[in-house]
Amino acid sequence: MVSSDTVMNLFDLTQKTALVTGGTGWLGRAMAEGLAEAGATVIISSRERARAERIANSLVTESGQKHRAIQLDHMIEDSIAAGFQDALEGGTIDILVNNGLEILGDDLNTVAFEDFAKHQVNNAGYFELSRQLHRHAVDRKSPASIINIGSMYGQVASYPDAYEGICQASSVAYHALKGGTIHMTRHLAVYWASDSVRVNCISPGPFPNPDSAPRELVDRLKQKSPMKRMGRPNELKGAVVFFASAASSYVTGQNLTVDGGWTAW
Ligand SMILES: NC(=O)c1ccc[n+]([C@@H]2O[C@H](COP(=O)([O-])OP(=O)(O)OC[C@H]3O[C@@H](n4cnc5c(N)ncnc54)[C@H](OP(=O)(O)O)[C@@H]3O)[C@@H](O)[C@H]2O)c1
Repeated sequence: MVSSDTVMNLFDLTQKTALVTGGTGWLGRAMAEGLAEAGATVIISSRERARAERIANSLVTESGQKHRAIQLDHMIEDSIAAGFQDALEGGTIDILVNNGLEILGDDLNTVAFEDFAKHQVNNAGYFELSRQLHRHAVDRKSPASIINIGSMYGQVASYPDAYEGICQASSVAYHALKGGTIHMTRHLAVYWASDSVRVNCISPGPFPNPDSAPRELVDRLKQKSPMKRMGRPNELKGAVVFFASAASSYVTGQNLTVDGGWTAW
């Protein structure tokens, strides 16, 4: 074994820079915190720069990092290009977490055609950002890691009886989107492996934000989970640091489901 390959070194992200889209959100913020705690410099993106700045300024700087904030809307091609260029102003980018999500569309009974179609643009945004990072990595002849955020709902359907009488069923457009995210991960991983650009996916299970999810729904969802509880955002830190770091240097094209066993029934 090479002596520098200690487990602590493998997970260390000092000298690495990570761009986290939607780092202002419920799960994006926790993942950004995990990356910063592992030593990475983090660039938080938001559709509103001031929101991103607030989160970037809250991250730990124990490795002397200078976290930054950018404005980026991944549903708009020009905004992706401009945002990525802005992110590069500070130097290089080694890690991309495609986490942001513009939620559109009702359930299968009421969803409008246009909303279903527009929802899929989230994947176009993930792809375009991934392509920007791939080009950047090839230009500088340096490895890179792309982490897409999928969902257990990209792998399994939701239970109709969990939602019945409380709220709409989970969005059909979301199920289509996240299934696509997981499979796009495999495709990009295969084509970019020879460029040392790894592409993996984390699929969270139920991590409802208590500020927005109806309590009755959450109670029902708990009963559907082998662990009988919902995920806590910090429970994604380990997975994101694993995929971002050399600890996963021989892993690409994979989907890690962090769901308390939901999809294991
Ligand atoms: N929470 C769960 O239970 C759960 C389960 C499975 C998977 N996931 C996945 O985890 C990811 C994060 O979910 P979350 O629960 O943390 O959601 P969230 O709190 O709503 O955060 C989503 C973030 O996406 C950003 N965003 C929205 N539209 C965007 C756009 N057009 N371009 C770029 N960014 C945009 C928002 O940031 P700004 O408003 O600042 O732009 C927001 O902070 C999503 O991909 C979601 O599908 C979540």
